[in-house]
Amino acid sequence: MSDILKSMRSYLEMEKESGISEYLFTSKPKDVRLSLVKNGVSHCQKCPLGKMRKNIVFGSGNINAKLMFVGEAPGHEEDIQGMPFVGEAGALLTKIIEAMGIKRDDVYICNILKCRPPQNRNPLPAEISTCIDYLYAQIDTIKPRVICGLGKFASQTLLNTEMPISKLRGNWHEYRGMKFMPTYHPAYLLRNPKDKKLVWEDMKKILEILNG
Ligand code: URA
Repeated sequence: MSDILKSMRSYLEMEKESGISEYLFTSKPKDVRLSLVKNGVSHCQKCPLGKMRKNIVFGSGNINAKLMFVGEAPGHEEDIQGMPFVGEAGALLTKIIEAMGIKRDDVYICNILKCRPPQNRNPLPAEISTCIDYLYAQIDTIKPRVICGLGKFASQTLLNTEMPISKLRGNWHEYRGMKFMPTYHPAYLLRNPKDKKLVWEDMKKILEILNG
C-alpha cells in the first residue's frame, strides 16, 4: 500500500511540475467540474480556431438536464454572444423545444466544436478530434437521460459511424449507457422545411422516454 501511495505521490508531483494544478475528480459537484472544463476551454489554443474566435461557446442550460442537444459548431451570432444556438437556427431549435412542452432553460445545449470555423464551414476531422474531449467531459458530468444529436456531425461523431443522417435519424442508438436520438440540424430545416415533420416524429420519441 505504501508503495502505491509513494508512486502516486511522485506521479502527482511530476504532474504539478509540468503545470497541472487541478484534477477533475468525479466526486466534485457538477457545477465545479463543468467550470473546470470551461476554464480549460477558455484558454484553449489546441487548434487554429482558437486564434480566430471572438468567444468560446461552451454550452448553456440546466446542468441537471434530462435532455441534452448537441449541435455542430458556433456560427457568427454564437461567436459574438458566446452562447450556443442564438442565431436563426437557434430560434428554430427554441421553437422545437417549446413545442415539446419544455423550457429552453431546462435542457442543456452545446456543440461538437467550441470555436467558430471561418465562414461557418464544416468542422474538419482534426478540429473535431482536438475538441471532442471537452464534449465528452460535458456529457460525462451532466449525464442526461437522452442526447439528441443535431445533424450529421454531432450524430456521426458521437456514434462513431459514417452512416448518413437520413438513415441514422428517427432511430434510438446507445451512447455510453445513454439514449441517443439523431435528428436533422435546425439549419437544414430552415433550408428544407418539409422535413420538419420528421424532426417532430423524433422529438415525440424523445418525449415518450422523458415522460415514460
Ligand atoms: N449551429 C450549431 O450547430 N451550433 C450553434 O451553436 C449554432 C448553429
